[in-house]
Amino acid sequence: MTNSIDYNAWRVHEKDGNYVGALERCNTDDLPDNEVLVKVSYSSLNYKDALSASGNKGVTRNFPHTPGIDAAGEVVASDIADFAAGQPVIVTGYDLGMNTPGGFGEYIRVPAAWCIPMPQNWQARTAMIYGTAGLTAGLCVAKLLKMGLKPEQGKVAVTGASGAVGSIATELLATLGFDVVAISGKADQSESLKALGAAEVVGRDALAAEKKPMLKPAYAGAVDTVGGEPLAELLKYIQPGGSVACCGLVAGPQLQTTVLPFILRGVNLLGIDSVEIPLAEKQAVWDKLSGPWACKQTEKTAREIGPKELDSALKAFLKGESSGRVVLVHGD
Ligand SMILES: NC(=O)c1ccc[n+]([C@@H]2O[C@H](COP(=O)([O-])OP(=O)(O)OC[C@H]3O[C@@H](n4cnc5c(N)ncnc54)[C@H](OP(=O)(O)O)[C@@H]3O)[C@@H](O)[C@H]2O)c1
Repeated sequence: MTNSIDYNAWRVHEKDGNYVGALERCNTDDLPDNEVLVKVSYSSLNYKDALSASGNKGVTRNFPHTPGIDAAGEVVASDIADFAAGQPVIVTGYDLGMNTPGGFGEYIRVPAAWCIPMPQNWQARTAMIYGTAGLTAGLCVAKLLKMGLKPEQGKVAVTGASGAVGSIATELLATLGFDVVAISGKADQSESLKALGAAEVVGRDALAAEKKPMLKPAYAGAVDTVGGEPLAELLKYIQPGGSVACCGLVAGPQLQTTVLPFILRGVNLLGIDSVEIPLAEKQAVWDKLSGPWACKQTEKTAREIGPKELDSALKAFLKGESSGRVVLVHGD
């Protein structure tokens, strides 16, 4: 591939143990030698980007680095016949934005196996309103449905409900007819969560540690985006045979639980990975999100930022203060 193009990227440098991001000029010659060069028009913000930008070595080993686990744009050049120049694509997950320069740059060069053709009726901006957060919420809901979860079985809970994954999970479940209880630490997001379709909004302290080993069943199922102690508590409230889709760790990666929810109520804890799963599984969820699973309120309320606002927006994620979907627009 012979293109040599100068472009802007928001790159993070390590300086004396501190991690500082700034917009700088780069050249496509310095991108990894992969099959598809993509001009990125939109990216989006996810908790993992905040981890990468703050020097979390479990996400990004080497700096300087361009984060951005999501990208949408147009193929500029390709070594693979399936992706001709001009083809709109979505790229999320795998190593993008971790140790491969990501969507916070105006260009990425990635393996063809990471690229999904843009669904017919979608634009790059819409795709990035969903991004990895939407894909993950969709995967959680798809797995709960596969386990037989139905609206008539009772309420479903979403933790971290105002966050990127949580807010889309809330709207998607409500759109599918579920009675959603949004569990959130942000009292000021109550109205927004109701506008997404939450039937009830309860404070995060509803999942504060209880001494009791089991609690009165309250939820037929749940999407958990936080992990840690809240997840251990949530499991005590799940109805017999119910399931919890577990995808996040903002409250901690440890899970200290008894086996009681599993052996007394047959509760299922479902793991969700949006990163390494086969492309076909991602494609199935993208197709639904671009059709019957569209989350119109999320699409309407997503916030746009430019690269200069990345620093403060990413810091808000680390403090648990971010809400809804934040889309990064490249250009100007
Ligand atoms: N498995 C996967 O493939 C996958 C994919 C995407 C994301 N994730 C993970 O999912 C999680 C959520 O990601 P996101 O992008 O949605 O992040 P996010 O926008 O920051 O949302 C997380 C939400 O969790 C709540 N929260 C924050 N700190 C908390 C704490 N200490 N205890 C309890 N709740 C807390 C907050 O919502 P409230 O104020 O409303 O409570 C926050 O908005 C992250 O851990 C991320 O790494 C995993």
